[in-house]
Amino acid sequence: MKILIVGDIFSKMGRESFERNLKKLKREENINFIIVNGENTSHGKGLNEKHYKWFMELGVNVITMGNHTYSNRNIYNFIDDSKSIVRPANFSQDLPGVGYTTKNYNGIKITVMQFIGKVFMNNPNDEDPFEKTQELLDSIDSNIFICDFHAEATSEKVAFGHCFDGKIQIIYGTHTHVQTNDARILPKGSAYITDVGMTGAMDGVIGVQKNIIIDRYLKKSTNAFEPEDKGKAQFCAIIVEIDEKTFKCQNIKVLNIIE
Ligand SMILES: [Fe+2]
Ligand SMILES: [Fe+2]
Repeated sequence: MKILIVGDIFSKMGRESFERNLKKLKREENINFIIVNGENTSHGKGLNEKHYKWFMELGVNVITMGNHTYSNRNIYNFIDDSKSIVRPANFSQDLPGVGYTTKNYNGIKITVMQFIGKVFMNNPNDEDPFEKTQELLDSIDSNIFICDFHAEATSEKVAFGHCFDGKIQIIYGTHTHVQTNDARILPKGSAYITDVGMTGAMDGVIGVQKNIIIDRYLKKSTNAFEPEDKGKAQFCAIIVEIDEKTFKCQNIKVLNIIE
C-alpha cells in the first residue's frame, strides 16, 4: 500500500498546490492513505472548520498539527469531535484533542501519532517526547505505526528516528518547512526523513512574506506575519510503500514539486 504524507500546508497557496497535486497523484499513483500536516492551513496559523471539512472532502485520512494547533481558536469547536485530527501527544493531557488515532484500512490497523520536540521549541510544559512515544507504543494495538515528529533541531529528529527504528514504520519530521535530503530506510526498517518540507509559497520565508521577516532582522520590526500569496508554489511530500502482509516498508519516495 502507498501512504502519502504531505508537509505543512501553508495558507492559500499551500491549499491550492495541495489540491492540484493530490488530484494528479491520485491519477498517477495508487495512493491508499493520506496524511497531511495542517497546522498552517488557515492563513498560516492553525486550522479552521471550513478547511478541516475541505480536507475531509478531498479524502484525507489524518491531519496532524503541531505548535500552531490552537492558533486559530475555531478549532476548539470541532477538534474533540474529530477522529481524524492528531495534535502532539506530549502536550498536556488537559488540552483538547488527542495525540494519536487508529484507522482501519481494509482490516489493517494504522496508527498515526504526533510528538513535539523539546529543543528550541519553548514549551517547557510538554512531556518528554521519547518517553511518551515508548509509552504509547506499549499501550496501542496496531499493525502499522506512523509518527510525525514536529521539531526544530535536526539532531533531535535523527536521534528520535534511530531510537524508534524498527518500532514505527514511518518516522517523519515536520515544522521547519524546509525539506531535508536524507530520506532513507533506517537499519532496522523504518522509513525516515528529518523534514518533509512545506507545501506553500516558494519565495516567502517558510510561508510568510519575505520582507516582513527580513525587517524583523534588519529593523527589529514586530509587524504581524502575512502569508506570501504570489510567485511559485512548492508541494513537499513523501510516498512510502508498505507491504500489506508483512507491514514492512519497501521504499520511500520524496516529492518536491515547484510550479
Ligand atoms: Fe510548527
Ligand atoms: Fe508549520
